[in-house]
Amino acid sequence: MITASIIGATGFTGAVLTDLLDGHPQVRLDALTSISYAGRRVDEVFPQLRVDGEYVPYDAGRLDASQVVFVCYPHAEAHPVVAELLDGGRRVIDLSADFRLRAAELYPEWYGFSHPRTDLLEQAVYGLPELEREAVTGARLVANPGCFPTGALLALTPLLGPLSPELVVIDAKSGLSGAGRGTTEKTHFSNVHDNFGSYSEVGHRHTVEIRQELERRASSSLSLAFTPHLLPVERGILSTIYLKPAVEMPEQQEVESLLRETYQGEPFVEVVTATPSLREVQYTNHCRLAVRVDRDAGLVKLIAVIDNLVKGASGQALQNMNLMFGLDETLGLERRA
Ligand SMILES: NC(=O)c1ccc[n+]([C@@H]2O[C@H](COP(=O)([O-])OP(=O)(O)OC[C@H]3O[C@@H](n4cnc5c(N)ncnc54)[C@H](OP(=O)(O)O)[C@@H]3O)[C@@H](O)[C@H]2O)c1
Repeated sequence: MITASIIGATGFTGAVLTDLLDGHPQVRLDALTSISYAGRRVDEVFPQLRVDGEYVPYDAGRLDASQVVFVCYPHAEAHPVVAELLDGGRRVIDLSADFRLRAAELYPEWYGFSHPRTDLLEQAVYGLPELEREAVTGARLVANPGCFPTGALLALTPLLGPLSPELVVIDAKSGLSGAGRGTTEKTHFSNVHDNFGSYSEVGHRHTVEIRQELERRASSSLSLAFTPHLLPVERGILSTIYLKPAVEMPEQQEVESLLRETYQGEPFVEVVTATPSLREVQYTNHCRLAVRVDRDAGLVKLIAVIDNLVKGASGQALQNMNLMFGLDETLGLERRA
């Protein structure tokens, strides 16, 4: 059995992770930490979670029995906790963005803080299992990818070499749970319900993460534009991605084959012919990808759908844990989360 703890267990990702870990046949839950709900029972705070236990305040000294710790704090709050846990010998999966960017100098501009642990940034493995399986297996620190980057990178990465894109435009639409449990005027039900709009049209933080991961694998430089939108639904991200190839326009079948070859045998990435929609992946760890070649426009269009809280966060974190501990990657992820 693997002993696991969750730091920040009462947030949206923490609650989904609690449920997934509780149902995992090889995991024993150790500490579920909370500042706001310390001392309260899990099923009192989340009646839908049939989990026996109560929230405790964070105390690194009491986590010695945990072989792996999931950190579900907001960005800038996570890195001190992650560092303390790693220094104490724990293996950590961080769901925040605090260890996703490789260059420390990007943090002040994109996240508003100076990164104090460049040594740990160097050790962090970007935990997109389908693209980084070997590195994740041996990792002490996994930086779990952002929700928008997950679908976009799974769709784009296999095409970087063969299509040498010169321009990539990612038009992404997310359910409201992507914003976490805190409510703002913008994310208030009255504003979101029966409404639809874009936000952070220039300079959304996930742009730099997507760029970093594409540039690591691309042979030439590319132009990238990313625009997120807020959907009046709870869960899921649908990204429509426009790719302008620098090579001769491919046939749709060729692009589909490139994706199918890359993801052949992958349990959680499916290349489909019919147009995918959110309902097909909500509450699952699956990503569905589809391709359309638009010759008139000179563009390859990709459609990627995931559940932001599962493949885009907690499910992917569990997939990473399974890899880190030599378990079947799908363990605990077969059911709806
Ligand atoms: N939501 C998504 O779809 C998604 C997807 C991928 C990645 N992520 C990332 O995963 C992390 C957790 O996301 P989430 O959606 O679960 O967030 P959330 O719902 O806002 O929960 C964050 C939790 O962290 C705890 N916390 C500790 N210090 C805090 C502080 N100073 N301010 C606010 N909360 C604090 C809070 O619990 P207590 O007060 O009970 O301690 C809170 O419940 C974030 O870094 C987020 O960017 C989220």
